Amino acid sequence: MHESRVPSPESRPFRLAVLASGRGSNLQALLDAAPTRGFAIVGVFSDHADAPALARARVAGVPAVARNPKAFATREAFDTALFDAIDVGMPDLVVCAGYLRILSDAAVLRHAGRIVNIHPSLLPKYPGLRTHARAIAAGDTEHGASVHYVIPALDAGPLIAQARLPILPGDTPATLAERLLPREHRLLVEAVTWIAAGRLLQHGSAVLLDSRPLRTPLRLGADDRLIEPAETPSP
Ligand code: GRF
Repeated sequence: MHESRVPSPESRPFRLAVLASGRGSNLQALLDAAPTRGFAIVGVFSDHADAPALARARVAGVPAVARNPKAFATREAFDTALFDAIDVGMPDLVVCAGYLRILSDAAVLRHAGRIVNIHPSLLPKYPGLRTHARAIAAGDTEHGASVHYVIPALDAGPLIAQARLPILPGDTPATLAERLLPREHRLLVEAVTWIAAGRLLQHGSAVLLDSRPLRTPLRLGADDRLIEPAETPSP
């Protein structure tokens, strides 16, 4: 009997393209988790040819592509070239993991519902840069990171999940960033795992979890698993 070698849709791993501008520690967390989490990284893309993230991809045997923004007349032209390269790998999801360029509206709309970003603040607080310094300067007692779907407005898309941590007396932006980073890694891996499993979807300005609107972002628990805040036991 003839047996098809084409994998069934169920056996095809969920395909990620990752955008990263620098160090790539969030990318590394995804690379490390992929074999056991039901997703595969099919390409890593950067706006910096010398980004350590690209070297991490190559070590893992993942295609690594850089495009130089200065070689393009406009942001739109750069993004078109970048996303044409991304789309060759037919990703199910594009993950911005420390990607420091603002995406053009056209690129976002072309992949609506299929781009997520990790941002080092408890959005909607502190979109943009210098989030740790701004949280400390504001006298906040809590800081964190957010994973959200990307929409044209910067760091404003529907929130999927957050990790929280206390700001301690004497914290500096550097100490806070250092303490937050491992939580970011777990948050991103968990959120992508849930998306790959088909549990999360963007629906306009809402996020659906198991087909129901998510009222507040999922939360990374002390055991590094995502929980719905309603499930959090009262103190
Ligand atoms: C992370 O803090 C991420 O939240 C922010 O940029 C940093 C990137 O770190 N968007 P890395 O390149 O993943 O190590």
